[in-house]
Amino acid sequence: MTVVALSAEAMKRAAAAAALETVTHGMKLGLGTGSTAAHFVDLLGARVRDGLEVLCVPTSERTRAQAEGLGIRLSTLDETPELDLTVDGADEFDARLRLIKGGGGALLREKIVAAASRRMVVIADATKEVRTLGAFPLPVEVDRFGARSTQLHIERVARGLGLIGTITRRMAAPDAPYLTDGGHYIFDCAFGAIDAPEALAERLSCIPGVVDHGLFIGLAKAIFIAGAKGVRIIGDISGEGP
Ligand code: 5RP
Repeated sequence: MTVVALSAEAMKRAAAAAALETVTHGMKLGLGTGSTAAHFVDLLGARVRDGLEVLCVPTSERTRAQAEGLGIRLSTLDETPELDLTVDGADEFDARLRLIKGGGGALLREKIVAAASRRMVVIADATKEVRTLGAFPLPVEVDRFGARSTQLHIERVARGLGLIGTITRRMAAPDAPYLTDGGHYIFDCAFGAIDAPEALAERLSCIPGVVDHGLFIGLAKAIFIAGAKGVRIIGDISGEGP
């Protein structure tokens, strides 16, 4: 028997394809951002071409452009404030379905869209699974006004939880900071293992100047994890869970 190792892209696509199976006619969908979510949008585009009717809200301008190009019917949360399902990627996840997101810089819109959805499901390759969140630097979206002060505040809050690490403002080019779709900075916080993500999430949310952070807790209902042996699901895909 020949064993063919799946590439990372093939795994991402397999997770996306498995999640697409849960999409039904007439659904209102949130579309995530990133390379894994892009596979989902691509596969969804093919189903739409074949007649599937869905109405979608993208989580970034990048995803909007991709979906538009594929002829997927789009809306906004102002026009369609409640969604059935959001499918998005993640930078890390643990066994309790807690996530780090924002590697692609879209965490604010991703969180708003996920929170507006009855269910959020995550698609990822198995390399994103961790025992403890934090190997991936936590992205924190920060208003440009007073950003240096906000950074110091983040440092103090993290230190209070025993988290010490480098905080780096994300750059788009050597002399140009990265700006999110909302016009904010991203600070990538390399804290290492985050033993109490709930506490960190709560404290970061209280800092004036922090627009949002990449800890997604209590949002994902299921994760489609693609590995060498196929796609495994953790959580509940029935849509009836909490
Ligand atoms: C974008 C995100 C992405 O979902 C996350 O970065 C994963 O991306 P990829 O699928 O390319 O690994 O949070 O803000």
